[in-house]
Amino acid sequence: MKITFYGHASLGIEVDDVSILIDPFISPNEKASHIDIEALKADYILLTHAHEDHVADVEAIAKRTNAVIISNAEIVSYYSNKGLEGHPMNHGGKWDFEFGTVKYVNAIHSSSFADGSNGGNPGGFVIEGERKNIYIAGDTALTYDMKLIPKQTKLDLAILPIGDNFTMGIDDALIASDFVACDKILGYHFDTFGYIEIDHEEAKRKFFDKDKDLMLLEIGESIEL
Ligand code: NI
Ligand code: MN
Repeated sequence: MKITFYGHASLGIEVDDVSILIDPFISPNEKASHIDIEALKADYILLTHAHEDHVADVEAIAKRTNAVIISNAEIVSYYSNKGLEGHPMNHGGKWDFEFGTVKYVNAIHSSSFADGSNGGNPGGFVIEGERKNIYIAGDTALTYDMKLIPKQTKLDLAILPIGDNFTMGIDDALIASDFVACDKILGYHFDTFGYIEIDHEEAKRKFFDKDKDLMLLEIGESIEL
């Protein structure tokens, strides 16, 4: 499994020959101006919630690639009304896709589209691939619901928001990593705007001090699991 950070909360995941995009917000992000959305591959687009900083590039990419949009039912129906393909889910449900099993799990946040349309309730994803399991928290507060994840899934990586203000900050993300029983964390949702700027060294040190590993990738950088 190869994971690429495209800035903010946008990720690319490659599982064998399948390309998955998460929450594409790339063309409006000045920090990601070196990423060409026309060159991104997508068989599936997973959306945690409907906020503009998670869906800005969905229509352009889905129209070009015919990617299947996986999200809550309200978000999928919003895009199917625009002629895009989707697979609707809701909280607690899971489905076997060609790349693995996806479960849509709780997030504490909000989820409306920029035009005021109903974006359902926000979520995160647990993806169980053939060899590796990951949790993508989405925009969320720290919540006890996270403790349910390791009851069924042994995670190899947890992707957690760390920018504070709109989501968890570093200290809550540290507790979240205990709740999900995963010491390998990829931080996201930081530095994009003034409200969510963080001190990278301090953040990494706080995780290091608890024998955990916080990875912060450059935009465009990848890790292999
Ligand atoms: Ni949000
Ligand atoms: Mn956000």
